[in-house]
Amino acid sequence: MPDLPEGWLSTADIAELRRLGAGATVLELGAYQGRSTVVLSEVAKYVVSVDRHQGVPVGDADSLPPYLEAIRPLRNVAIVVAYFEDFVPLLRCAFDLVFIDGQHEYAEVVRDITLALLVDPAIVAFHDWDYDEVRQAGSEVFGDPNRVHGSVASFRRTL
Ligand SMILES: C[S@@+](CC[C@H](N)C(=O)[O-])C[C@H]1O[C@@H](n2cnc3c(N)ncnc32)[C@H](O)[C@@H]1O
Repeated sequence: MPDLPEGWLSTADIAELRRLGAGATVLELGAYQGRSTVVLSEVAKYVVSVDRHQGVPVGDADSLPPYLEAIRPLRNVAIVVAYFEDFVPLLRCAFDLVFIDGQHEYAEVVRDITLALLVDPAIVAFHDWDYDEVRQAGSEVFGDPNRVHGSVASFRRTL
């Protein structure tokens, strides 16, 4: 994938994000250098992309310079440099899709699900569903996924 920023999405994950994000208004929680952001922007109506960009974990390398280089030209992406928990409660509109790819520890995933539900998404999708703590948190709230493709699991909340 030479044209995409660095990140952890596999070819299967990219195909699944393209399918889930087609025509959608998307809230992306976790962008890093913008790999998923670019993929989503190519198919989505609009992407609000949130990341604190202070490294993974915090204090590690700054992801903002490569992210900005990749994302700034994209007209349908709003760049939000913020902590999820500070920014998402300020939103009042509904999103079609929330893509959760932040920290993968249980408590943080539960927190991110709680934030995602504030914007009433039709679909909630998780990256790294093969991580035990991501799967545990997601399953406790939503049950079994409607679909798993690559390491992306998605839950449809409306028909
Ligand atoms: C696994 S990376 C995201 C990878 C990206 N989706 C991709 O396709 O390459 C996780 C990102 O979530 C961000 N993050 C984790 N917890 C966060 C929080 N509470 N608020 C803001 N950003 C957070 C980190 O800064 C990191 O860039």
